[in-house]
Amino acid sequence: MSEEQFVRVDRDGDIAVVTVDREEKMNALNEAVIRQIGAAFDSLRADDDVLGVILTGAGEKAFVAGADIGELAQMTPTTGVATSRLGQRVFGAIERFPKPVVAAIGGYALGGGFELALACHVRIASGNARFGLPEVTLGIIPGYGGTVRLARLTGLGRAIELTLTGEMFDAQRALELGIVTRVVEQSDLTEEARTLLRSITKNGPIAVRLALESIYSALDVNTRQAMDHEAALFGVLASTDDMKEGMTAFLEKRKAEFRGW
Ligand code: COA
Repeated sequence: MSEEQFVRVDRDGDIAVVTVDREEKMNALNEAVIRQIGAAFDSLRADDDVLGVILTGAGEKAFVAGADIGELAQMTPTTGVATSRLGQRVFGAIERFPKPVVAAIGGYALGGGFELALACHVRIASGNARFGLPEVTLGIIPGYGGTVRLARLTGLGRAIELTLTGEMFDAQRALELGIVTRVVEQSDLTEEARTLLRSITKNGPIAVRLALESIYSALDVNTRQAMDHEAALFGVLASTDDMKEGMTAFLEKRKAEFRGW
């Protein structure tokens, strides 16, 4: 019997839109949903025609209202570790995805849904978005990277307060905290995400990819190693046709036509 599908992938030219589609449960993440998100990104990674991805939730009420509490309630210490590892692996692959990923957040982005958004490269929200890590109210902690990633965006003090209180906050507060970079009308959310993504994908794809690589790998090493890595990547770019094209186009006062090599 084939598994029920909870993740949709639509194409709009060189942009892919990945939609978590389990609307009757506020797009909550059960194990199948998490695996299907992973599979969607795996196939998009290998697709040379895709230059960027928008990740969003079906309907207007929720981006993703968290991990599936019915499923979590059955956890044992052993399956708990496995559950956390699965989410960490799939979300980690989004963070290290070689093409830009924009989260378009409308409605609730709670718990695992908030953590999913945190794994994306850029987040934009509609005015009705609500964020929070309510895990402590359920007697658990964020287990899909949230205790690590939130502090990187907001600083430690704010992340600790948000994690320990479990309180919900609105899109404006998320903007002030640096969690999202734009707040727009719900009706404009997807179009705004496309516009933002196109302002990235019009640039050299290898440059975009290596900028992400440099930024994220710097989080795992010391400053000296990060600088060495940046210099090496800078050197790699000097070997690409896209670098020649980008600079020649500037000097010839025309628009660059990048080809991805
Ligand atoms: N896991 C499983 N089911 C969930 C869910 C979750 N995280 N979030 C919502 N749902 C389900 C509800 O159980 C309900 O299902 P039902 O119709 O079969 O009863 C359905 O989605 C609609 O949710 P409902 O609670 O009726 O909507 P609401 O508008 O009153 O409230 C929320 C919306 C998001 C505030 C509320 O659903 C909620 O608090 N969800 C849990 C959030 C959470 O703690 N997430 C972190 C988990 S670690």
